[in-house]
Amino acid sequence: MIPIVTRRILITSALPYANGDIHFGHIMSTYLPADVYSRYCKLAGYDALYICASDEHGTPIELAAQKAGKDAATFVNEFHDRQAADFAALGIRFDEYYHTNSDENTKVAQEFFAEHKKKGDIYEKEVEQTFCEKDGRFLPDRFLRGTCPFCSAEDQYGDSCEKCGKTYGAGELLNPRCAVCGGTPIRKKSRHLFFSLSKYSQWLEKYQSEQPFPREVVNYLGKWISEGLADWDITRDGPYFGIPIPGEENKFFYVWYDAPIGYISSTLHYCNAHGKNFEDYWKGTDAELVHFIGKDIVYFHFLFWPAMLKEAGYSLPHRIPVRGHATIQGEKMSKSRGNFIGLSEFLAKYPADYLRFYYNSVTPNNSSDADFSWEEFGAKTNSELVGALCNYCYRVLSFTSSQFEGQVPVPAPGLLDSKLEKEFSAKIDAMPSAIADQLEQVEIKAGLEAGMAFVNDCNRYFNDRAPWKLAKERPEEAKAVMFLAAKAAYAISIHFQPFIPFYCQKIYSQLGFEGDVSAVRWADLSAFAPGRKLAKPEIVYRPLEKEVLAAEAAKLAAACKKIIV
Ligand code: MSP
Ligand code: ZN
Repeated sequence: MIPIVTRRILITSALPYANGDIHFGHIMSTYLPADVYSRYCKLAGYDALYICASDEHGTPIELAAQKAGKDAATFVNEFHDRQAADFAALGIRFDEYYHTNSDENTKVAQEFFAEHKKKGDIYEKEVEQTFCEKDGRFLPDRFLRGTCPFCSAEDQYGDSCEKCGKTYGAGELLNPRCAVCGGTPIRKKSRHLFFSLSKYSQWLEKYQSEQPFPREVVNYLGKWISEGLADWDITRDGPYFGIPIPGEENKFFYVWYDAPIGYISSTLHYCNAHGKNFEDYWKGTDAELVHFIGKDIVYFHFLFWPAMLKEAGYSLPHRIPVRGHATIQGEKMSKSRGNFIGLSEFLAKYPADYLRFYYNSVTPNNSSDADFSWEEFGAKTNSELVGALCNYCYRVLSFTSSQFEGQVPVPAPGLLDSKLEKEFSAKIDAMPSAIADQLEQVEIKAGLEAGMAFVNDCNRYFNDRAPWKLAKERPEEAKAVMFLAAKAAYAISIHFQPFIPFYCQKIYSQLGFEGDVSAVRWADLSAFAPGRKLAKPEIVYRPLEKEVLAAEAAKLAAACKKIIV
């Protein structure tokens, strides 16, 4: 059922690192499901905000900027803008896409730290780390290469061996080298600040058991909690592209301390610009906080982040939907494997709705992987999206245009009372809540399935009633049928928006409405009256050609082969 109470919901997606372009993995796991949910919440009339930002701090980004010959702030801003453009092209409609390298984030992160310190959650400890004297910087594990102390494999990272899979401390790596300059680093001591996460083990266990969190993730993390959580080093020594730790010299917050705070500071930025009170979303007891993330970052969101929030006096996450990895033709997607598909190159060739429809219909509501294959993409697009859904709307619109001069017929009294009409009418009325029931639970795949079941009902009704025949034999009945058929197309244009927003806007316009379809409230079909004049019907989407799909699959296979050989 669609609830009538007004809810306040703050929706976020994990913040993408500002050193790369948006790819299929990002959108499948994190941005698309959140966008569907956010669009639904807004259509349902909730006070919902969808907030995101680019994650701009840390050593990898700083060194990538250096390599590109740019200062870090310029470098991250350029990626931020490219990411924002890619998201917009896919119809990811953030209320705010901000920056973690911002004044607001500095302010909120430093306030968090002050609170954590006041509560006794911060303590100091000396740590020994790898330091490159030539570069004058401490080296994170990924910037250290050397020989595995267990299997002697060469050229391994500072934290784990890709050959034997063992993990080790950076100090154990043999013949260590700096990945930046190739020089031999030394071990050097430094005083670091730690967040006492271990104190929160019991509290976290209880909190997680009370939330509608994915059970498989909670069970997995439960093992870590029961083994005892380690405290968290939140310090990085300068030079570091990050936020200075107040009261410390040349020390900065580790990027994972300030990144989730970016959810808050970006909301703050939005609220300041829109005359809203950000505390309503982050400190009000009734606001629901929903974070969409991929499975590789569950530790941060289920463990560190709730503890950080609790001690700083903020609301706690209500839901954290987790999705798995994107695979391409059954293989893990990676640049080095050659099966990487970037979003912008894809959207240059195919409509965004095709990809949205595809991922919304194949991504399971859990942390298992979701595959993209050209065959499956072709099948979903051609038979379901174009063949069933778009084709239905086009048939209805073009038949109305040719037979009734583009005007939705007025059914004669009593003609909607026959069995088939009553049944179909009831299906139209039930469709909004059939989808809403699923989307309320963030069951996106099931929500789309409910919608597609309705589309099948529409096609069945249209074929059974065959208005092209009725028009000749019993024209009054044909009118009643076409009124209902067009009303169903109207229902589609509103309720499929979370999944395929571009298409819905076009059909809404073809149905003769002006303005933004997202302004219509969920389940409100009252604006659709008999007698209304339609616009000119046009084919919006066409099937993908077999040859095109085969060529894409072959190109991908060749790229993978070339890299493997
Ligand atoms: N910056 C961090 C998140 C900070 S949140 C306070 C980060 N960035 S990321 O760019 O690597 O990933 C952004 C989102 O995309 C994350 O939810 C991550 O899980 C997801 N994915 C990134 N690569 C992915 C795949 N190959 N497959 C599925 N999801 C992936 O993590
Ligand atoms: Zn070096």
